[in-house]
Amino acid sequence: MSVLYCLRTKDVPPGEAWLSPVEQKTLAGLRVPKRRLDYLRGRWAAKQAVLAMCTHPILPCDIAVVPNAKGAPEMFLNGKLAPFGVSISHCQSVALAVVGPCSPAFGADLESIEPRSEPFLTDFFTPHEIAWIRSAPADTASLFVNLCWSAKESTLKALQEGLREDTRAVEVSLPSSSLPAGGERFSFQTTYKPTGEVFWGLAHVMEGQVQTVVSAQSAPDLRVVVPPQTLA
Ligand SMILES: CC(C)(COP(=O)(O)OP(=O)(O)OC[C@H]1O[C@@H](n2cnc3c(N)ncnc32)[C@H](O)[C@@H]1OP(=O)(O)O)[C@@H](O)C(=O)NCCC(=O)NCCS
Repeated sequence: MSVLYCLRTKDVPPGEAWLSPVEQKTLAGLRVPKRRLDYLRGRWAAKQAVLAMCTHPILPCDIAVVPNAKGAPEMFLNGKLAPFGVSISHCQSVALAVVGPCSPAFGADLESIEPRSEPFLTDFFTPHEIAWIRSAPADTASLFVNLCWSAKESTLKALQEGLREDTRAVEVSLPSSSLPAGGERFSFQTTYKPTGEVFWGLAHVMEGQVQTVVSAQSAPDLRVVVPPQTLA
């Protein structure tokens, strides 16, 4: 079981004492206000996801999320590499973090549902995806393109490659061209074409954003936690 924790800026406690010392040092080096806020939101979401999973008490400042050599986040508890993996995404004032067993690999992403340009479509998507996106009814075209983009980013995070890899190396497959309007999770698959590795994904549309989570080997088993005030 993995925990998906989703929050807004207002859910993040004031101050920095809840960050681990290494995270406080990283924050001190971040100058751009939006990047600082993203960092704080993402770290708080990741720590809350760990607290929702852990059966023993642990202080937020004893949890550290630190990038590895590829930039992918790794989780430490009391200075030791944790038996959990973590994936983080930020979008506008929202952050989400998924924490779960290290294996199978997983990744998560959050995107605004907004119009994308024609060059964006032709530069970053495969012919199959472009055909699927163009088949969308006019009122869901933005959802289709951002869902597809988010699925790619989640997969590239699970692979720890990020946008170093060509986004067309990931092919997104959705079962049909009629997606739920919102409120429910629906499934998709992605394939990393260089190796043929398949990822199972879940997508969720909420308040103008699309969230995706992918997992290698089997569909993500998610417990979703959203602070009540975030939904208010
Ligand atoms: C991973 C990546 C695609 C996410 O970009 P994004 O959509 O703008 O941002 P999101 O908010 O969805 O995700 C950001 C989180 O991705 C995670 N991330 C970064 N690199 C990652 C990687 N290689 N694998 C998995 N996760 C990664 C981080 O946790 C980051 O949040 P944090 O810095 O607060 O910890 C992008 O950062 C990337 O491609 N990074 C690797 C290549 C790189 O560093 N390029 C330089 C800029 S192009």
